[in-house]
Amino acid sequence: MNILGALRPASPLREAATKPAPTKKEGPRPTKGIEIKSQRELAIMRESSRIVATVLKELAATIQPGMTTMDLDALAEKRIREMGAVPSFKGYCDYPASICISINDEVVHGIPSAKRVIRPGDLVKIDTGAFQNGFHGDSCITVAVPPVSDRAARLMQVAEQALYAGIAKVKAGNCLLDLAGAIEDCVKAAGYSVVEDFTGHGVGRNLHEEPSVFNFRTRQMPNVRLRAGMTLAIEPIVNEGRKAVQILADKWTAVTVDRKLSAQFEHTVLVTEDGYEIFTDRSKV
Ligand code: CO
Repeated sequence: MNILGALRPASPLREAATKPAPTKKEGPRPTKGIEIKSQRELAIMRESSRIVATVLKELAATIQPGMTTMDLDALAEKRIREMGAVPSFKGYCDYPASICISINDEVVHGIPSAKRVIRPGDLVKIDTGAFQNGFHGDSCITVAVPPVSDRAARLMQVAEQALYAGIAKVKAGNCLLDLAGAIEDCVKAAGYSVVEDFTGHGVGRNLHEEPSVFNFRTRQMPNVRLRAGMTLAIEPIVNEGRKAVQILADKWTAVTVDRKLSAQFEHTVLVTEDGYEIFTDRSKV
């Protein structure tokens, strides 16, 4: 299973991150290993992604202090199944739930729990995926529970801007490095840091496919030239403080080492000849 570099527990990712950098400067590589989806496949992915967008929109409207993260997971699973899909995450690498829910200094991959209660002022990242007719959609939002601090509001805004700065570079003929650089510049200009231990990924028949989509300039990333029909899950993670993260004893939850806030947005995006189509657009559901 080729999941190097995708948003997964740190170990395989670290493998990707420690791969020796190429010794000489390389140009864009051929697109070997990256699937170009057919129109039929794209139609299915639009539907999987629409289900994901619907669930996220509903969770954002439902989340309230006093609910547990398990309540939100149960709701997500119920809605995914009602819409004829199955949760992409459940059972993936033994992940136990349908959503990842990461609060405040938790960066990514927080596991829903009946003991974790949503509190006023929480900054909540909700990530989910849906699989139907053989294809996945994958998306993440950050939601701030009132009262929202200025700190949280600004971080959240920059995280979303960073995602859209990356998406703006998606177009056949552009390279992954264009996207990574745009994200990095957006985050740095705001005085925040990009988490380097997790990346986005191709998405389709598998939740995680080639290529790894880095959110910062690095020679570890094969600088793939984009082609129409590629489908990418772009998902920068933005930290208020330092970029360093650590994994908790549950082996999934990543938290900021400095315990400052973290925010993330993710979309499943199609590369087209003249730009992109955002498959998980919540404004269309
Ligand atoms: Co993803």
